[in-house]
Amino acid sequence: MHLVISVCLATFTGFSRAASAPSQLYSPLVAQKLLTTAQSVPNNPIQYPQYTSSDNGQWQYFPADYWTTGFLPASCYAMYTRFNSLCPNSSAANEFLELGRSLSTGEVPLEAYTTVGHDVGFLSFPFVDEAAVDKSNQTATTAVNTFATLLADRFNPIVGCTRSWDTSDPTNFQVIIDNMMNLQVLFDSEALTGNTTLRNIAMSHADKTMQNHVRPDGSSYHLVEYNSTTGAVIWRGTVQGYADNSTWTRGQAWGIYGFANSLCHDLDLIVAVYRNTQQTRYLDTSRQMASFYISQIPSDGIVPWDFNAPLDPPRPADSSAAMIATVGLLMLSQQEASLSPSNTSGAEYWNNAAIKLLSDNTEFAWKPEWQSLLSNGTVNNRDSPPNNLTGITYGDYYFVEAGNQLISMGLASCSSSNSTSPAPSSSQSPHHTSGAVRARRLWW
Ligand SMILES: *[C@@H]1O[C@H](CO)[C@@H](O)[C@H](O)[C@H]1NC(C)=O
Ligand SMILES: *[C@@H]1O[C@H](CO)[C@@H](O)[C@H](O)[C@H]1NC(C)=O
Ligand SMILES: *[C@@H]1O[C@H](CO)[C@@H](O)[C@H](O)[C@H]1NC(C)=O
Ligand SMILES: *[C@@H]1O[C@H](CO)[C@@H](O)[C@H](O)[C@H]1NC(C)=O
Ligand SMILES: *[C@@H]1O[C@H](CO)[C@@H](O)[C@H](O)[C@H]1NC(C)=O
Ligand SMILES: *[C@@H]1O[C@H](CO)[C@@H](O)[C@H](O)[C@H]1NC(C)=O
Ligand SMILES: *[C@@H]1O[C@H](CO)[C@@H](O)[C@H](O)[C@H]1NC(C)=O
Ligand SMILES: *[C@@H]1O[C@H](CO)[C@@H](O)[C@H](O)[C@H]1NC(C)=O
Ligand SMILES: *[C@@H]1O[C@H](CO)[C@@H](O)[C@H](O)[C@H]1NC(C)=O
Repeated sequence: MHLVISVCLATFTGFSRAASAPSQLYSPLVAQKLLTTAQSVPNNPIQYPQYTSSDNGQWQYFPADYWTTGFLPASCYAMYTRFNSLCPNSSAANEFLELGRSLSTGEVPLEAYTTVGHDVGFLSFPFVDEAAVDKSNQTATTAVNTFATLLADRFNPIVGCTRSWDTSDPTNFQVIIDNMMNLQVLFDSEALTGNTTLRNIAMSHADKTMQNHVRPDGSSYHLVEYNSTTGAVIWRGTVQGYADNSTWTRGQAWGIYGFANSLCHDLDLIVAVYRNTQQTRYLDTSRQMASFYISQIPSDGIVPWDFNAPLDPPRPADSSAAMIATVGLLMLSQQEASLSPSNTSGAEYWNNAAIKLLSDNTEFAWKPEWQSLLSNGTVNNRDSPPNNLTGITYGDYYFVEAGNQLISMGLASCSSSNSTSPAPSSSQSPHHTSGAVRARRLWW
């Protein structure tokens, strides 16, 4: 079956720009550091960077079978997209494409055996990217489909979810909010194979997460435990957050992004209803989670690792949570813009919130002297010892994605790198007509 790149949303570029994207987004250091990192991963066997030491900003490397492995190759593909279509530079584009390809080879064996459980969705990112570049690449499409099958195999119809973590008592069925991110591989594989069961599984999971993880005020639990034989919720709380009733900022960010993303696919299915009512449950959930997120950001703009963590001793920031939320807000904005009639004010509200969040958190986390692009990430403040004040591979990835999205939405330009001149308006500069830009996961 041929690859259907189903564009469920046309990219809307008619936004006006109130605030400026931070100049660091397009600094030459971004390409330089990513190239150096990608060219110097340990080989035989290959290892991937996950986070930097908080002392000297040097990457710490981990074996391939780890949930964060896909982010460096996916960052290379994101830089390929940037230099191929957004800020054309063919030699840089080719360099990053080759690195994305060579770095993903270390993940291929994971199709046969991986211990990452639900996180196969994250592992699939570079293969989805490759399939978008070269749909005839069987290695890439097979990887996407295999990872999707592995996730589908974790679906329990009584619970209505895919299982996140394995447990010693198999009737204790654990689902974390992060798992919303992994549904994408099911949608991607459906696009490749036409297997609609995959979409149904993803939507069932999203519906249950909406019901049981999201609190009435739009905040979220990190973990919900279900009984696998009855489907009943048996416990709600946290693993990485400050407290069971608190809101872990990265989990909340995964939710904003995950629901805005699920909506994209839901649209195809309920297009008639959607056009009539302009309402969907996923749009509302993403809005609610986004509103909560924005309402909890302290006046200094710095996103802490948990919104409810005490101020004394000073709570570490999590720049990765801020970057994920930024891209989630931009996706939500695209959803508002593609309503009919377009919800321009809603879209601009989220754009401005996204740019402010990105600027405020880039300002203190941008770290030229470290190997990572950003610092001030919190990997897990509940580890012993707590792992905070680091650069993180997914923080860097969503920073690059934010840069790409802002350009493709007409909210920044490549030349805005360290310049205060406004981006050209989209009418003067149509960034892309259909097919020119595929912001992969956002518009599949
Ligand atoms: C932008 O330019 C200013 C002044 O020339 C410089 O101090 C700053 O480091 C530059 N920022 C980036 C991200 O290159
Ligand atoms: C294009 O990218 C290459 C690195 O691959 C760099 O050396 C060159 O300066 C870039 N060209 C432009 C016009 O930015
Ligand atoms: C096909 O995709 C795989 C995995 O993404 C990559 O390693 C390989 O280099 C690609 N092959 C070609 C010929 O581009
Ligand atoms: C569709 O995917 C589901 C879940 O992996 C699988 O059980 C089913 O066999 C697939 N259907 C086809 C026709 O391949
Ligand atoms: C789930 O329910 C079954 C049947 O009531 C019970 O035997 C089992 O202990 C429960 N498991 C958990 C983790 O609560
Ligand atoms: C969580 O529960 C504790 C103890 O009951 C309470 O002091 C705290 O205010 C609650 N936090 C939130 C965010 O509801
Ligand atoms: C537009 O978006 C805002 C922000 O999500 C929302 O509050 C408002 O209800 C939306 N308006 C319409 C007509 O959908
Ligand atoms: C960011 O991290 C540095 C250490 O790398 C620390 O000194 C600084 O206080 C942190 N900034 C914030 C806003 O947390
Ligand atoms: C940050 O991590 C350090 C090192 O593990 C730890 O000692 C410290 O308590 C953590 N900070 C906070 C406020 O939790």
